[in-house]
Amino acid sequence: MSSTTSPVRQSSFSITTLADQTFKLLASIISYLNANGHAQPHFTAASAELPETSEYEALRNQFNDTVLDLHRLVNGPKNILRTQGYSFGDHAAIQIALSRKYFELVPVDVVGLTAAELAKKAGMDEDRTSRILKVLATQRIFEEVHRSFRHTAASNFLRTSLFTGMSDVSYHELFKAASEMNTHIDASPYSTGLENCAFYNKYGTTFYGYLEANPERAAVFSKAMSGWSLVDDSLKVLRNNFGWSSLENTKVVDIGGGNGHIRIDLAQHYPALQFTVQDISNHQLSSAQSAEVQDRVTFQQYDYTMPQPIRDAGVYLFRIAFHNNNDEEAMRMLRAVVPALENRHDDPILLINDGIVPERAEGTITRSEEHQHRQLDMVMLLNFGGKERMERDWRALFEKVDKRLEISRMCYSPRGAGLLEIRLRQQASRVSKSSELDDGQTRHQESKL
Ligand SMILES: C[S@@+](CC[C@H](N)C(=O)[O-])C[C@H]1O[C@@H](n2cnc3c(N)ncnc32)[C@H](O)[C@@H]1O
Repeated sequence: MSSTTSPVRQSSFSITTLADQTFKLLASIISYLNANGHAQPHFTAASAELPETSEYEALRNQFNDTVLDLHRLVNGPKNILRTQGYSFGDHAAIQIALSRKYFELVPVDVVGLTAAELAKKAGMDEDRTSRILKVLATQRIFEEVHRSFRHTAASNFLRTSLFTGMSDVSYHELFKAASEMNTHIDASPYSTGLENCAFYNKYGTTFYGYLEANPERAAVFSKAMSGWSLVDDSLKVLRNNFGWSSLENTKVVDIGGGNGHIRIDLAQHYPALQFTVQDISNHQLSSAQSAEVQDRVTFQQYDYTMPQPIRDAGVYLFRIAFHNNNDEEAMRMLRAVVPALENRHDDPILLINDGIVPERAEGTITRSEEHQHRQLDMVMLLNFGGKERMERDWRALFEKVDKRLEISRMCYSPRGAGLLEIRLRQQASRVSKSSELDDGQTRHQESKL
């Protein structure tokens, strides 16, 4: 062996230690389910839902880190990378099942449909229908019994859940745009943005331009945004970690508010709030519906890079709007809102409900958790040339736009978007005591500059 060979690194991970940890975590998971009256899940369509408490989420994330490493060691890089390398075929199969409506066409009974029966209903050939069903069934999306395919927990979830809107956008637009990432970087190795990203390369327009031109896809995107709250606690974080109940007769401007489902949720919980939902897209605004709170809500078409027209609001809210933008665009958004915060005596608040990505998995943050933030970061990159931001990215952004912009409170969420409460420093001395907050789902960092 050559003397220049690097020393062998000893790893603390082995199949034995990981298996041991996996068993311990499994024991904790089973006792948590039992102690809290949850039935154990199974693969049939009748399976119970899993708990979504912070305790269960912590166990689930630790388990994922351990069991995925175990899976990697047992399979080895060759097998893992083979499966990963061909996973686009799995994505294509789900995309077809969604667009040909397999999930709705297969009845929810114990028999299901043969491939021939489904093919007829879906309007395509039996051979390909059968192959698509079979590759899905290997992943427990549908189950093949006596040459028929019936629902499983996963296929039934895709049949019934709002989550389907998210999957639809993922497999339809995002999947196609993702295949352009590399070509886009070849064409533009040093910069990216809304009009300079993989999506733009693929479709010749921005994501928003595409939605305007394709109202039926805009409706699916609107559904996807509502479905997002099933996998991301950002709505809960927003509702429970800000002192909404201490505000009286306060105007809240929901900037880039889309279909306004956020203000519906907040308006239902806090009757003293008045809302204006602003969005550049009339399609998004016009898909907003809720007679219940209609008297407290107005809508306004507005471009958030232009000066904010409403100067008397108490809260200016951006929910998952910044991550769709690169730093230059994000700075324009901030510059547009600063004048509305200026020279006021009532402590207006800029509230940003958006990703706060951990620097890297360490301490209590698992790789499984970090991976979810990083997956979303890739989605923002390919779709918008945007990004998920770490705390230091947020601070750098505020610093560049206006040194008075101060993070008065910050709340990290392991399941997606956290919350940044921002004030102009001149007003920070009058910051009201925030609320009692925390719903147990989030970890907090209080930071005063
Ligand atoms: C990711 S969606 C978030 C929607 C909503 N805030 C929510 O939480 O569901 C981003 C929204 O920003 C809107 N948007 C994009 N560019 C905009 C602009 N320049 N001015 C105002 N809104 C814009 C889009 O139409 C879309 O509704």
